[in-house]
Amino acid sequence: MATNLKKVTVPAVRAMKGVTRIGMLTAYDYPSAKVVDSAGAEIILVGDSLGMVVLGSPDTLSVTVNDMLHHPRAVVRGTQRALIVGDMPYLSYHVSIEESVRNAGEFIRAGAHAVKIEGGKKQRITTVEAILSAEIPVMGHIGLTPQSVNTLGGFKLQGKNADDAKRLLDEAVALDQAGVFSIVLECVPAEVAALITERVSCPTIGIGAGVQCDGQVLVYHDLLGLYDGHTPKFVRKYATLADDAKAAIGHYLDDVREGRFPNDAESFHIGSVDELKRLYGSRDNVVEIAR
Ligand code: KIV
Repeated sequence: MATNLKKVTVPAVRAMKGVTRIGMLTAYDYPSAKVVDSAGAEIILVGDSLGMVVLGSPDTLSVTVNDMLHHPRAVVRGTQRALIVGDMPYLSYHVSIEESVRNAGEFIRAGAHAVKIEGGKKQRITTVEAILSAEIPVMGHIGLTPQSVNTLGGFKLQGKNADDAKRLLDEAVALDQAGVFSIVLECVPAEVAALITERVSCPTIGIGAGVQCDGQVLVYHDLLGLYDGHTPKFVRKYATLADDAKAAIGHYLDDVREGRFPNDAESFHIGSVDELKRLYGSRDNVVEIAR
């Protein structure tokens, strides 16, 4: 649980590198943000993973800026301490620099403190620089970038050989030099993540990238066992809340069918027999009804 209620800022996250590991989790609405924030996460990512875990799509590609913006607004209301990062969805930072900056600004207007964008190639670095120059902090994301699932040919481990690992290292260094305040490393060998972590000045946040990153991120629904789709090997389920919810709802439905819900304490009554007589007329079981 969080003991320090001081708000987490972008400089504070930077200063955690090499000092304290960073705990990051996704959240998409008021109740999930409240749980994650009060548990003490430093960063809440309003991830476009909501396309899969909240909206039920097979990937994140169908999520639009309008779909997303609803969510940081709710997350802000449930957050007191954590830094909130808005995940820019597919095609919101790919068409033009101007559109990218404008869309990033929409996330800030919706209450996010920073945005995350995927990729580290040259063109993306230009976009990152433009967003930064609009005073919007940027979190990078390289390795398995889910918005590139069609280009990558699936949700696959990245940086498996020295050439590909070197490409990821170059992208990480370029993002770092451009000024991102942290970089998510998704689904890359632990050795590659360790090397990148050593070479960049900003914190790295791993997901399927081994223990040597400066922090870790998981998707809320994966960690809590609320998602029944494919769960990658790097996910650790700390609870099975979907099973618990199903059992609780089954119990409720049995109680409804058997007449055990609601009980007397869960019901309201007209306390006055006179009022009941007025309502029921001359029936002689009015006193019984009143009980
Ligand atoms: O959208 C998301 O939840 C993410 C994390 C998996 C890093 O991008």
